[in-house]
Amino acid sequence: MLKIKLYKDLPEELRSKYSKLKRGVFVGEAQEEEDEGIEHEEEYCSEADLICYLIAYEDEEIIGGLELFKRRIKHLNQLIILGGIGSLWVRKDKRRRGLATKLLKKVMEELKIKGCEVVYLCTDIGKLKSLYAQVGFVPLKKNYTFVGRSGKRYFKDDGMIAFIKPKETLRKIVKSKEPFDIGVGNW
Ligand SMILES: CC(C)(COP(=O)(O)OP(=O)(O)OC[C@H]1O[C@@H](n2cnc3c(N)ncnc32)[C@H](O)[C@@H]1OP(=O)(O)O)[C@@H](O)C(=O)NCCC(=O)NCCS
Repeated sequence: MLKIKLYKDLPEELRSKYSKLKRGVFVGEAQEEEDEGIEHEEEYCSEADLICYLIAYEDEEIIGGLELFKRRIKHLNQLIILGGIGSLWVRKDKRRRGLATKLLKKVMEELKIKGCEVVYLCTDIGKLKSLYAQVGFVPLKKNYTFVGRSGKRYFKDDGMIAFIKPKETLRKIVKSKEPFDIGVGNW
């Protein structure tokens, strides 16, 4: 039976089990090189804004999960409560059965409850646009920017965005010509 559980924090034993499985997907499948790991540490430095984990179990075995983020940002002088989705994964033998979609639906409800106005994520848009479109994400279609652990500023173009609060002013600000500034750390 499928169960999806929300955790504010992970007990030590579960944390190490979960991290190992997640790493198996992201490092194992992508065959990330050592220097890519260092790059990841530098850019994905958003631990302080990690608010919850969603973990999917089938018959008590972990088969997928994701991380939720929340951050207050100031973009073009407007305060925005930004939600985030990071490290979505599903075990290889459980894919294309709608599990990621279920996790994403749950995460969007949760980020709404947490008061987020806009949700940002980065992905391989060419490949996974349709997955995220199901829960309202559209390609940002311009650069986003953030500061890494070292203080260096980065500009990237693989962002997708969903509006929880469909306010026109918010939409205008996020969609303006300037790179969307998500603050310190990607997720
Ligand atoms: C991406 C991932 C989480 C998708 O999980 P999933 O449970 O298989 O996704 P779903 O079954 O909910 O897919 C729903 C729809 O999204 C799209 N989709 C999902 N995976 C896709 C893929 N690999 N390529 C293209 N489209 C895909 C399809 O439209 C799919 O519908 P369909 O199966 O009827 O064609 C999973 O493949 C995975 O863990 N990949 C490795 C880690 C990763 O890349 N994570 C994404 C980080 S941004």
